[in-house]
Amino acid sequence: MTGQSGLNAVAVVGAGTMGQGIAQLCAQAGWPTLLYDVAEGAATRAREAIGESLARRVARGKLGEAEAESILENIEIAVELADLAPAKVVIEAIVERLEIKRALFDALEMHCSPQALLCTNTSSLGVGEIAKGARRPERIAGLHFFNPAPVMRLVEVVRAELTSAETCERLTSFVEGLGKHPVVALDSPGFIVNRCARPYYGEALRMLEERVATEAEIDACLTDGAGFPLGPFALMDLVGLDIGLGATRTIWEALGRPARFLPSPLLVEKVEAGKLGRKSGEGFYRYPREAQAPRE
Ligand code: 3HC
Repeated sequence: MTGQSGLNAVAVVGAGTMGQGIAQLCAQAGWPTLLYDVAEGAATRAREAIGESLARRVARGKLGEAEAESILENIEIAVELADLAPAKVVIEAIVERLEIKRALFDALEMHCSPQALLCTNTSSLGVGEIAKGARRPERIAGLHFFNPAPVMRLVEVVRAELTSAETCERLTSFVEGLGKHPVVALDSPGFIVNRCARPYYGEALRMLEERVATEAEIDACLTDGAGFPLGPFALMDLVGLDIGLGATRTIWEALGRPARFLPSPLLVEKVEAGKLGRKSGEGFYRYPREAQAPRE
C-alpha cells in the first residue's frame, strides 16, 4: 500500500492493550510500525511486552527466532507526534474520552501527511463526533479491532457521514493486507459487534444478580453448550470491566436509554472497586500475575 505518496509506515497512537495488539499485528504483516504514547515509557514497555509475547511463541515452536526479531525490529518508538509524518495509516487507540480524542485528531491533522488516513479504534464513541471540526473529515474513519487484536479475525471499518468512499476502500484493502476480515459498518451506536454484545453481557449479569447461577456456571454453559471460546464473564475480564462499562453507558445513552441496555449495578460496583479484570488482577475471577493483560 506504499503507492505514489511515498508514505510507508503505520502509526499506532496509544500503547495500552489494544494499541499494543494492533502494533504487533501491523508489524507481523510487515509494516514499519511507529508506536506513540503520551505517557513516558509506555510505548517502550508495550514494545517489550510484544517481544515477550513473540518469545513465548518462539518457545512453543510457533514462530522462528529470526522472524520474531524482524517483527520486533518493525516497531519503532515515536517520541513525539511529529515522528508520525511517514505514516500512511494512523490508528488511534487512546482513552475513550471524546474531547481528548478530538484534540489528538486536531494534532494529527497538523503533523501527518494530508494523504494519511486517520482512524480511531473507538469501541462506542461516534466516529463523526470525533471528526467534528476536522479540516479533512473525508479521510477520518473507524478501524475497530477486537481483543486480542493479533488473533481476532474481524475489523470493523466504520464509515462516518463525511468519510469518503475512497477512504473506506483503502482501509478495506489495508485490513485485508493485515490478514483480517473487514466489514464496513455505519457510524451508529456500538457499530455491529458491541451493540449486539451489550444485551448478551447484560443478560448474563442480570442472571448473576438474580443468583440463577454463578459466573463459572454461566460461562461453562456458553462455552460448553453454545460453542463460545470464552463465556461472558471471562470475556468481560479479558476486555476490561471499565472498557465494557464505558461502552455500555455510551451505547445506552446514544440509543435513548432503553431498558435492555441499562448498565448493570454489579458491573458499576466492580469498576468502582477497581476490579477491572485481568489487567488489575481481579474482575469476576482472580488472576495470577502472569495471566494479567497489559493496561488499556
Ligand atoms: N496477544 C497476542 N496473541 C495472543 C494473545 C494476545 N493477547 N492471546 C492469545 N494469543 C494467541 C496465542 O499466542 C495463541 O497463538 P498460537 O496459536 O499461534 O500459539 C492463540 O492466540 C491462542 O491462544 P491460547 O492457546 O493461549 O488460548 P485460547 O486458544 O484459549 O485462545 C483467545 C485465547 C484467542 C483469547 C480465545 O479465548 C478467544 O477467541 N476468545 C474470545 C475473544 C473475544 O471475543 N474478543 C472480542 C472481545 S470484544 C472487543 O474486543 C471489542 C472492544 O471494543 C471492547
